[in-house]
Amino acid sequence: SIGPDVVQVAALTKQGCFTYDPGFVSTASCESKITFIDGGKGVLLHRGYPIDELAEHSDHLETCFLLLNGELPTSEQKTEFVNEIMSHTQVDDLLAYTLKGFKQDAHPMAILCGLLSSLAAFYHTDIDNNSQEDRTLVAKQVIAKIPTITAMIYKHGIGEDFIQADSTRSYAENFLYMMFSKGEKDYKVSPVLTRAMDKIFLLHADHEQNASTSTVRLSGSTGTNPFAAVCAGATALWGPSHGGANEAVLTMLEEIGDVSRIDEFVAKAKDKADPFRLMGFGHRVYKNFDPRAKVMKEACDEVLAELGLSDHPLLKIAKRLEQIALEDPYFVQRKLYPNVDFYSGIILKSVGIPTSLFTVIFALGRTPGWIAHWDEMLSSPLKIGRPRQLYTGSVKRSYPK
Ligand code: ACO
Repeated sequence: SIGPDVVQVAALTKQGCFTYDPGFVSTASCESKITFIDGGKGVLLHRGYPIDELAEHSDHLETCFLLLNGELPTSEQKTEFVNEIMSHTQVDDLLAYTLKGFKQDAHPMAILCGLLSSLAAFYHTDIDNNSQEDRTLVAKQVIAKIPTITAMIYKHGIGEDFIQADSTRSYAENFLYMMFSKGEKDYKVSPVLTRAMDKIFLLHADHEQNASTSTVRLSGSTGTNPFAAVCAGATALWGPSHGGANEAVLTMLEEIGDVSRIDEFVAKAKDKADPFRLMGFGHRVYKNFDPRAKVMKEACDEVLAELGLSDHPLLKIAKRLEQIALEDPYFVQRKLYPNVDFYSGIILKSVGIPTSLFTVIFALGRTPGWIAHWDEMLSSPLKIGRPRQLYTGSVKRSYPK
């Protein structure tokens, strides 16, 4: 069925009628069996399993297996999958040289895009996109290497040595180890922070045809190298309307600075003449509470209690904003609830991750979704993605003589 936002345009071409749907509000670009969202009811299912149940009982790597394979792993399959992922965490030394060529203060997302596309240079001729075995290997490689690359980008920014991955640790713990240790083998990572980090990854793992995943599919539909397709997804993620929102939330909270200034910012957000929006509020698909935001809020409370930061001024501003959004008619009528990025930014900040790295963390979490969609697309007969346009330019005219 065609939604109210779709304008139908009869084109005078042999193809007959086509739809004009700016922003793809009502147009499915593909079939998929991976993720289901009912935005009106606030439901998110991966392969049929509700996101809150996965967040409670599963972990990120098990969810990666589920997204890629369609079923939860047996305990033997899980152990094998985890071991394989952890065995691919190292990156080529040449990648470290590539990284050192970037300015130290370059935006981490710019570096991430550069490094993801350089992975294509390391793994290109060996990949047969038509082989399921090759596609599975690529999926494991990219899921394994992106935490290492993220930690390397962070260490480069602060001028510290890169830390080799420790494959005896869990995926999330190893990430925090590579980020914050100086390589001490007995470096302790708090279990509460490890669990919160794992939840951030899990809650971002997939979200059907969002802008970045659709970009991976569109790019991958040409048969391009999968690391290049993932890089294309990362570039789409960078914008503040998508993955850049978690960074924008923190910047906004810091700019507000004090609870007494909240009303001023809320008024700006409601003013149609002002382009400012309350970052971390609203969602294209969810017109109800984002189910991921509920889990993230609980994780946020746990982390702040663990770190003794429950009275943090930014948190006070965040809590007041949340309350306003749930009560103010402007937000209520437009169904603008806090989204997943509203709380993830507060957790990341408390863990000690710099704001400029937030979107890279989102990319890390979303990587299994990107690669699962790429794999699913290539598992069926492939049709290159090629949208049409509604031409509104000049009619045919002669060149002035
Ligand atoms: N603050 C104030 N008003 C808002 C906000 C906001 N954050 N979001 C939407 N609105 C208003 C719009 O001005 C519009 O009002 P109108 O009907 O009076 O013109 C109405 O709500 C509908 O907004 P749209 O732009 O049509 O909604 P759309 O679905 O296109 O946009 C989006 C969704 C991009 C997420 C938007 O809500 C937004 O910009 N939010 C802030 C950025 C953000 O948090 N992004 C993260 C998204 S989640 C993710 O990527 C994981």
